[in-house]
Amino acid sequence: MASMKVVLAYSGGLDTSVAIKWIREKYDADVITLTMDLGQNEDLGAAKEKSLMLGSLKHFTADVRDEFVRDYVAPSIKANGLYEGKYPLATALGRPLIAKKLVEVAEDEGAQAVAHGCTGKGNDQVRLDVTVRALNPGLKIIAPVREWGLSRDQEMRYAAEKGVPVSAKKNAFSIDQNLWGRSIESGVLEDASFEPPAEAFEWVTPAEEAPDKATYVTVGFEGGVPSSLGGSELKLPQIISELNAVAGRNGVGVVDHIEDRLVGIKSREVYECPAATVILEAHRELEKMVLNRHQLNFKRMVDTVWSDMVYTGLWVDPLKTDLDAFIDSTQKKVDGTVRVKLYKGGLRVVGRSSPNSLYDANLATYSSSSTFNQQHAEGFIEFWGLPSRVASRRAQRVTVR
Ligand code: ARG
Repeated sequence: MASMKVVLAYSGGLDTSVAIKWIREKYDADVITLTMDLGQNEDLGAAKEKSLMLGSLKHFTADVRDEFVRDYVAPSIKANGLYEGKYPLATALGRPLIAKKLVEVAEDEGAQAVAHGCTGKGNDQVRLDVTVRALNPGLKIIAPVREWGLSRDQEMRYAAEKGVPVSAKKNAFSIDQNLWGRSIESGVLEDASFEPPAEAFEWVTPAEEAPDKATYVTVGFEGGVPSSLGGSELKLPQIISELNAVAGRNGVGVVDHIEDRLVGIKSREVYECPAATVILEAHRELEKMVLNRHQLNFKRMVDTVWSDMVYTGLWVDPLKTDLDAFIDSTQKKVDGTVRVKLYKGGLRVVGRSSPNSLYDANLATYSSSSTFNQQHAEGFIEFWGLPSRVASRRAQRVTVR
């Protein structure tokens, strides 16, 4: 009889495969593995086989794609979720869902602990640990890669000893992917001055090889969330898949930036996120049609705080829930369509329309038919500029003296 049961989030990769052996040995525990489908397009059947072959007690596969899109990606679209203005949070959005499922399976199986393959240097450990502990403080968390202190070579040796298959092709990068994006780290990318090599990319065609003719896509929104593509109503996961393909083909959706991790490290991060790039740009543009400037200014701050909270693992925090309530209230009128032009790595919104538009062509037009009364502008400017004039007068008197 093992002394405890542990539910391990299992990807099928080297670290979590070694972890099955390591947890059994170190903790004298039975290991139950759980592999989740967040739209990463990996062979989940192979993961199951590998897990059982390595001696797990049981294996579960959970298709959480719809839940991921409905409860994590859609709120992030409404919040224009981008960390440091660049990263659409794909990995960050997946983690709280993975934590939730780990806790559910642990409770169902009467396990005492959950485990994951995160290192001690990243954000993912924080996101998983914070969420697990908030949902069930009684569960122990085991993080083998953070605990074992093995170098890559030592890990390979341990794997060989324990009969863990090591794929012949050496992984040049550390990858995490789901429907919302593909995160690429490490290897040659650690030299921040070095252009990411073509091998790093799987979703986005190099701009040089993209079609010579522009592609247009029309995204329809309802309540701040995409509901159609090219006029056809589709489910959001479908819209995201299709946009990943079409924008990716046009070279759109690579992000390369220096990112500030929660643990204090600056890190060079590369992402492929074609659908997210198109949808977030289109969404922001549509919001500008239907929200007034006060709402937009305030929401920009809320969106930034929301994105920071999600990035730093605070998905379950009550402030995040409060921000969601504000954001949801702003999204009720975010209906309409946005036309986006994709061409050789670039994208631009070229048209937008909404039944709730605040854009009034009558006010905006320079033709004489405009209902805007220009006579009032002079008085308006008199008072608008008053604080500046007062300060300027005062400053001039001081310097002249
Ligand atoms: N820097 C990104 C984040 O913190 C991506 C992390 C990718 N994780 C990975 N295991 N490769 O969300």
